[in-house]
Amino acid sequence: MINNFKNDVNEGLSKVNKTLSSKYFYDKKGDAIFVEIMNMPEYYLTNAEMDIFKNQTQNIIDSLKLQKDTFFELVELGAGDGTKTKQLLQKLDDDGYDFEYVPIDISQNALNQLETTLHKEFPNVNVSKRQGEYFKILSSFKDTKAPKVVLFLGSNIGNLLDDNAKRFVASLSESLNTNDKILLGVDLIKSVDIVLPAYNDKQGITKRFNLNVLERINRELEGDFNLDEFDHLPEYTVVEGIAKSYLVSKIDQIVTIDSLNKSFVFKKGEKIHTEISRKYNDDIINNILKDSQLKLITRLTDCKHYFADYILEKV
Ligand code: AVI
Repeated sequence: MINNFKNDVNEGLSKVNKTLSSKYFYDKKGDAIFVEIMNMPEYYLTNAEMDIFKNQTQNIIDSLKLQKDTFFELVELGAGDGTKTKQLLQKLDDDGYDFEYVPIDISQNALNQLETTLHKEFPNVNVSKRQGEYFKILSSFKDTKAPKVVLFLGSNIGNLLDDNAKRFVASLSESLNTNDKILLGVDLIKSVDIVLPAYNDKQGITKRFNLNVLERINRELEGDFNLDEFDHLPEYTVVEGIAKSYLVSKIDQIVTIDSLNKSFVFKKGEKIHTEISRKYNDDIINNILKDSQLKLITRLTDCKHYFADYILEKV
């Protein structure tokens, strides 16, 4: 793990246009900052998807064609604290559906906490938590005959470039059987004045989130980044529909990473690209699904039409 990080940092910072992958945002500190982000007023994504789960729960159940008398597995990729999913669990539990909830997460800690709260709040719901990488786990229960519904919420897919999102969706589809469903939550393309503040909040929480990757290099790879000498720069245009985050060097500087035995030169104004957050419309989703074995059944949106949950079926 540490070696992947080290190699990726070396490769990314050695490029003409420097990059660091956003997957390295999520250490313990990054996870905690992301929770702060989800609670920020500017980060509309959380409330928008919650609006769908709260106010259209029956619609979700109908679109997923769930049957009360047929056992199914409700799998969630990257379950986190399960806030939105609890709305669905509540309804399924109240209405007597026969199912098991299978949260998958890389963080054992997050899973343990989720299990504890679920046991308290939903003593009747069977929870079978799985720690690890999504596809390894999904492929391990491809052979179970029970119908599956896979939740992939929060526009997490948006942190992948479209080609990678296509590959992700194709692998996901591979691990499913015919008639299994996916509920894919995505942020929709909308105006700059709504999207940009979500990635550039006044309190500087997103800035801390972005800078944490440099802090992580300092901590884990013995780097000497001076965080005060880097700024957070988000960009977004409606035409492209992709929010991009950068770290910008405020001065000419040289940064040394001891574990790499290497120094990196930064010019004043030079950028490190750290993250993309893709925003979607039907055309983009259809393009991502084009060569897959997934059929789009329907999409549900929140009352402001900021966010969409697409329901997909394996054919
Ligand atoms: C996890 N992911 C969907 C978030 C997003 O909106 O792209 C990560 C994030 N980056 C900055 N703010 C939130």
